[in-house]
Amino acid sequence: MEQLVEQAYSLAKETRKNAYAKFSNFLVGAVIKLEDDEELYTGCNVENSTFGLTICAERTGIVKAVSKNGGDIKIEFVVVVADTEEPTAPCGMCLQTINEFSTDKTMLHLGNLKSVLKSIPLKSAFPMGFKL
Ligand code: THU
Repeated sequence: MEQLVEQAYSLAKETRKNAYAKFSNFLVGAVIKLEDDEELYTGCNVENSTFGLTICAERTGIVKAVSKNGGDIKIEFVVVVADTEEPTAPCGMCLQTINEFSTDKTMLHLGNLKSVLKSIPLKSAFPMGFKL
């Protein structure tokens, strides 16, 4: 595993501990790595008493990246960590949000508390994403 992905994985695992997930008890951590940017943007899920307002870890990280840089960003990879046996895939809303800032090379690295379990290009996980 590439060292930068390992570093991002550790950070996502740490960030997961900050998840506000008192309704589902399903804590998720994420890291967004952009092209041409050293920074690792962390995210966790933030739930709400009005359940539909929940923000996933991936979108938390993307919103932070856009807030810092504006919308002219390209996502190099996304790391997602949850406490599961099988890799947790980003939900449809997150796939579409990642897609908005993606390139043909954008990768998803999906892990549990032990390691990254699956690395897959966004375009394989979400082949028909909508873009204007
Ligand atoms: N969740 C994420 O944050 N990312 C994912 O990839 C899957 C689901 C969150 C949303 C909600 O707070 C909890 O996990 C259960 O769905």
